[in-house]
Amino acid sequence: MPLELFPICGTGKTLRLPTSQPHMYQVIYGILKQVYLPLVPDILEGLPQGWSELLLDQNQVAECAKKYNMAAKPDAKNVKRRRSYSSSILKEWGHRQCTFGVARDIVNFAYECAVPRPSQLNNHYKSFSSETYGETNLEQMASIIDELRLGPSDVFVDLGSGVGQLVCFAAAYSNIKQAVGIELSPLPAGRAVDLSNYFKKIMDHFGKNCGALKLIHGDFLDPKFKKLITEEATVIYINNLAFGPELMLRITLELLQELKPGTRIVSTKPFGSRKRVTYRSTCDLSAISDTVQMRSLVNGVSWTANKVDFWLTTMVPTKLYKYYESELHKKKGHCERSEAGEQNQEHGRKKRKTELRLDSSVKKSNESGTNSARSRRLAFSERTLSSNL
Ligand SMILES: C[S@@+](CC[C@H](N)C(=O)[O-])C[C@H]1O[C@@H](n2cnc3c(N)ncnc32)[C@H](O)[C@@H]1O
Repeated sequence: MPLELFPICGTGKTLRLPTSQPHMYQVIYGILKQVYLPLVPDILEGLPQGWSELLLDQNQVAECAKKYNMAAKPDAKNVKRRRSYSSSILKEWGHRQCTFGVARDIVNFAYECAVPRPSQLNNHYKSFSSETYGETNLEQMASIIDELRLGPSDVFVDLGSGVGQLVCFAAAYSNIKQAVGIELSPLPAGRAVDLSNYFKKIMDHFGKNCGALKLIHGDFLDPKFKKLITEEATVIYINNLAFGPELMLRITLELLQELKPGTRIVSTKPFGSRKRVTYRSTCDLSAISDTVQMRSLVNGVSWTANKVDFWLTTMVPTKLYKYYESELHKKKGHCERSEAGEQNQEHGRKKRKTELRLDSSVKKSNESGTNSARSRRLAFSERTLSSNL
């Protein structure tokens, strides 16, 4: 017999967790204590005195679940009656769309089901390699999603998704079209598949809406993912702080340079910069993208309590076109200036000739002793002409 919890939220379904794994009892206890006790204490009145303060063994948790189910049964059977639970009782748990708190709690319950011993993940990885493990916390991910204003047309792809908690969270917290994670290491990739299955079950139990999600075991550099990454993704997340230079170069050359205009990449190590394009940087990623710093939170990641920088790179190929356009204009301007320079030289030659003529005529008139008004007018008109040439 699996461990069961009947639903009381909207269109929710019965949650069934396997009893073969002891930590599942803790998850059921957590849901009763954290979610149902504050919302519907009357349904939990039949549970043993002080149950929420004690450390319960498996039998006691199973007993609590049974008592809860007996009280929740009429609601569980009658969806119409459940719908009459107003959001004044179920608060944020009463809506179909997850708030941050609901998405976080559901992902955390699924994480507890799929990853009973998180320390295994750290031992599994080689440190100081591209497979070094570390997680982005859900508060930080919510801040990124809010800052990017993800919407129904967005496809979120986590390159190196670990156990997939961010992919599930993105699908629950934002109303995006699809969330996909690709993970190379077999242990977290296996946990990610479990986590997404538990996540779907728990979301269903609370009757929550969710975008499509997929967690894949594989190498994101594998050509079979190219279409997804370069044509379908609108937001790419790469927690690349531990990625080595070779992997960074391959990501840039094989994936990022191929992205469609407007694609956004969030990373913990910047891929580009906001610098303007120069002759030397035309081959850099920064020539076709803009990079800015994002908000980062204290405790935003699992490996340090300090703030870790987050960078947003947006693909802007027009940056390079504009650079070439302005270079062309500059070149054209230069040609026009040199043409104008040649004309000026010609003008100088003519001017000097005129002045010579003028000097000789003045000289002649002086010589003839007739420095008359006529010769002065002639000299004046010759000068005016030469300055207007
Ligand atoms: C620091 S963890 C990040 C986990 C998750 N994205 C997060 O931020 O919580 C980086 C992950 O990238 C994975 N990784 C490294 N190179 C990869 C590759 N070529 N393909 C898929 N995953 C890769 C590592 O195995 C590791 O799990």
